[in-house]
Amino acid sequence: MEEKGKEEKEKMIEECCALHKDAFIIKPTKRYPLVLLMAMLSLVMIVGIYIFSLCLKQGGIVATPNQMKVSVTKRPCHHPTAAASEIPYIHYPEPTTYSREECACTPVRLFAILSMQRSGSGWFETLLNSHINVSSNGEIFSVKVRRSNISTITSTLDKLYNLDWYSSAAKNECTAAVGLKWMLNQGLMLHHNEIVEYFNRRGVSAIFLFRRNLLRRLVSILANTHDRDAKQLNGTHKAHVHSKNEKLMDVLDFLRLPKRKLSSQHVKIHTRPLARQVENWDDVYNALKGTEFERCLRADYQV
Ligand SMILES: *[C@@H]1O[C@H](CO)[C@@H](O)[C@H](O)[C@H]1NC(C)=O
Ligand SMILES: *[C@@H]1O[C@H](CO)[C@@H](O)[C@H](O)[C@H]1NC(C)=O
Ligand SMILES: *[C@@H]1O[C@H](CO)[C@@H](O)[C@H](O)[C@H]1NC(C)=O
Repeated sequence: MEEKGKEEKEKMIEECCALHKDAFIIKPTKRYPLVLLMAMLSLVMIVGIYIFSLCLKQGGIVATPNQMKVSVTKRPCHHPTAAASEIPYIHYPEPTTYSREECACTPVRLFAILSMQRSGSGWFETLLNSHINVSSNGEIFSVKVRRSNISTITSTLDKLYNLDWYSSAAKNECTAAVGLKWMLNQGLMLHHNEIVEYFNRRGVSAIFLFRRNLLRRLVSILANTHDRDAKQLNGTHKAHVHSKNEKLMDVLDFLRLPKRKLSSQHVKIHTRPLARQVENWDDVYNALKGTEFERCLRADYQV
């Protein structure tokens, strides 16, 4: 019974296929007139042309990797001496507003000086900018609309780090380090997660600059407000800072910049001991004595 069934099935399959063969081979030639055949032919031609144009388009796409290859071969600039851990911090920006051709192989470090008002960052930045290869562009984010949201912040940073930002810090020499001064209250704390992510992604070096002595910083704020009302020193900018030059050399080293002497027009003021600057020193002293801030009372300029 089963064998018979199988045979019948096979027969049916054969018949069915034969039918199909008939359908495909014989019927078209018999039924379709010449006009239809011509239509089919032209359809095939159209499809052919379409495929050809697709190929052309793809040819165009293939051409772009070639162009990319050219630009890749144009910058085998990677420092042969740079350690693998350094590579993320080495950049070769390609500004859109001008050609950086002659400096194309000068590696650029991206940095940000993160600080608070009256922490000596102005003096610090001036010193950095006295290096011919450094361009620190000041408090870019003091302009409110640039920090209105994270997308305006990142597009501003993109422009800066792509060397498309123009400020008085622009140099004719090849830039080896580009950055800005950024106060904590200029959107930095507000968007700190996204900004840290950006810094990590783009390999931005952060330089934290804070006064060790908070009390002295407060005094500096008060003193500076006072100075603003009083007459400014002629031709000099006032700053309330002190530091040792070796620290600066550390920063140059951090940014992998060639060491050179840095100078600033900033003049240090308010160098008297705190006790003689603060009118109600006794109150301040009593308030801080015995607290964790007591060290602020003692720490003074070590000139
Ligand atoms: C961000 O702020 C800018 C300027 O204020 C505005 O034009 C833009 O629409 C804002 N974008 C988002 C995503 O909020
Ligand atoms: C500094 O700038 C000079 C002049 O453009 C350039 O020759 C030199 O390579 C630059 N140095 C660095 C470390 O980029
Ligand atoms: C500042 O100094 C310049 C010369 O260096 C002088 O001409 C000017 O009068 C001075 N200004 C004040 C306010 O003293």
